[in-house]
Amino acid sequence: MAKLAAFYSRADENYFSGGYRYVTVGNTEKVAKVISELTGADLFKIEQKIPYAADYNTCIQQAKEDLQAKARPELVSVPDSLDGYDEIYLGFPKMEYGFDCVLCVSCSKKGRKRNSMHKRQ
Ligand SMILES: Cc1cc2nc3c(=O)[nH]c(=O)nc-3n(C[C@H](O)[C@H](O)[C@H](O)COP(=O)(O)O)c2cc1C
Repeated sequence: MAKLAAFYSRADENYFSGGYRYVTVGNTEKVAKVISELTGADLFKIEQKIPYAADYNTCIQQAKEDLQAKARPELVSVPDSLDGYDEIYLGFPKMEYGFDCVLCVSCSKKGRKRNSMHKRQ
């Protein structure tokens, strides 16, 4: 059974219980790698062509503006096809009101069954 672990993760400055700290790998990327190791899922990193700022608060502001504008930031790449996957794990930042990206739209357009998508915010 083919599986895909697609994730949007962010390194740079992040907020950790009471303070800001720069990291080289985001938590969602770490978790996606563990899922891949445990399940054999292919890994796919969702990356914007123009990344948000490294500074945490600027990034949050940019993300909010994109959300309000219903923007679809251009991505570095998308998988050629999702048809071969029976199960998809999708990891992405919390987002107060949901997270839209080309890959999510592509998944939902294909009318995937709810139980074949595992979303983790
Ligand atoms: C598009 C986007 C939306 C985000 N939305 C929220 C949010 O709604 N609430 C929040 O506390 N943090 C939010 N963040 C901050 C992320 O939780 C954090 O900076 C980072 O993306 C965490 O990455 P990681 O899960 O890979 O460690 C958002 C970040 C991005 C890039």
